[in-house]
Amino acid sequence: MTTQGNELLDTAAENEDVSVYQHFIDGAFTGPGDGAYFDSVNPYTGKTWAKIAQGTPDDVDRAVAAASAAFTGWSRTKPQYRGKLLLDLADLIEANSEKLAEIEVRDNGKLYAEMSTQTRYMAGWYRYYGGLADKVEGAVIPTDKPNILNFTRLEPLGPVAMITPWNSPLLLLAWKLPAALAAGNTVVIKPSEFTSASTLEFMKLFIEAGFPPGVVNTVTGFGQEVGAPLVAHPGIAKVAFTGSEVAGRKIYESAAGGFKHVSLELGGKSPNIVFADADLDAAAAGVISGIFAATGQTCIAGSRLLVQRSIHDDFVARVVALAKQATIGDPMRPDTHVGPVTTRAQYEKVLAYIDIARGEGADCVLGGAPYTGPGASGGQFVQPTIFTNVRNDMRIAQEEVFGPVLTVIPFDDEDEAVAIANDSLYGLAAGVWTQDIGRAVRLSESLQAGTVWVNTYRAVSFTSPFGGYKRSGLGRESGIEAIKEFLQVKSVWISTAPDSSNPFVIK
Ligand code: NAI
Ligand code: MG
Repeated sequence: MTTQGNELLDTAAENEDVSVYQHFIDGAFTGPGDGAYFDSVNPYTGKTWAKIAQGTPDDVDRAVAAASAAFTGWSRTKPQYRGKLLLDLADLIEANSEKLAEIEVRDNGKLYAEMSTQTRYMAGWYRYYGGLADKVEGAVIPTDKPNILNFTRLEPLGPVAMITPWNSPLLLLAWKLPAALAAGNTVVIKPSEFTSASTLEFMKLFIEAGFPPGVVNTVTGFGQEVGAPLVAHPGIAKVAFTGSEVAGRKIYESAAGGFKHVSLELGGKSPNIVFADADLDAAAAGVISGIFAATGQTCIAGSRLLVQRSIHDDFVARVVALAKQATIGDPMRPDTHVGPVTTRAQYEKVLAYIDIARGEGADCVLGGAPYTGPGASGGQFVQPTIFTNVRNDMRIAQEEVFGPVLTVIPFDDEDEAVAIANDSLYGLAAGVWTQDIGRAVRLSESLQAGTVWVNTYRAVSFTSPFGGYKRSGLGRESGIEAIKEFLQVKSVWISTAPDSSNPFVIK
């Protein structure tokens, strides 16, 4: 449903709770070219709480023009200046973290407890790359040529498009944006149509920190109308994307048309592997946090539980007992453990996968239905769900559900555990629970995943590279590695020869 600009004022006047959000282009908030806005729904109440500018390809053109015009100046600024702005921004993020978290929860329904931790912690990425800005160093190369000084320069790429999903909008932006800015790129952001408000609210902090106009821009709207033209825009040098495999493939193909740089973070089907020698209480807690935290709506969800056969029944009973203690309900309440599913489509997708699992012959030992009990309000809740008697070739074990659904698969020994874990198109993360240090090291080598956690799960930091093997994606975010994703290398050759040489042979 869309609302024209003039009707919008009436709607807002009738209902003070409806906020209005515009694009952020060239340092100012600006209405959409054709005046259309779309609704953003609060998944806990099921009600519209905000109106979001519905972008068009013309709006994309305006934003890319602003980012292109700003690039020349920004890329030539001193890195200390870019770093200082990012450090100042980090302070502003901390000062505004509660407000940003409240907007995130209203838009995506995830727990306030989780989102407020995220919005506070994300200052770390801005501070880390603020500090890194003036530590991007080329090298003097000892070539085999006489009378030559050869050195490298690391230069920014140009205007970068950043396309983000709805599950953790500001955190997943933090994994991209400060690295790109520290490196001297300018940026056009396209947040998810389901959760655009927090990114637009965040733009106010760039004004306050004193970023020059055009360095950071945000255009809101739908994938087809804004995302696709942004990726295809000739003014864009690189696309950094987090989201589904389907959209990721389209983006990769489109970017190939312009030979653009691309980094993709596309989710997974991560195994959490529990050996009989593990601390089983810690492992059960880790398994729960891996799949039911964030209502399973996280790329790193540990959605395949692999359990050594000798402890299978006992361990499943522990996990079920712990999951039953979860309080479902209002994500703003500090005692809530599991919130609603963010979008209607996602809610239906999760329920459809529960039917698929049943149809494949898996046994549902917990949940398996919508939750409509106390605290459900009008929200789209799915009960924490556990399936046993799952084979790894079932769809429920191979496809990303992105919801609170855990599949349990038994294994006999270490080799079988690794074989099942790696028998997946994805390779984002893996968890290993064992007290045997040798086994922990062996698995950290043999598991095909960009992140391996041993006796912990869901740990991430701005200091450590994150990204996928196989279909989970390309490129790395966070840590020193990530800034290279936004730089290109130039090799400079300077002759120091006192005289000229034969022009007809290669030097
Ligand atoms: P999506 O991948 O369709 O959307 C992510 C972003 O891409 C949004 O901003 C969207 O507008 C944009 N987009 C969509 N099509 C595009 C195109 N052709 N060109 C450019 N931009 C485009 O994800 P969606 O539909 O919101 O969620 C679907 C599934 O994706 C989920 O069920 C889940 O399995 C997966 N997902 C994975 C995430 C991750 O962290 N890797 C995050 C969110 C969803
Ligand atoms: Mg929403």
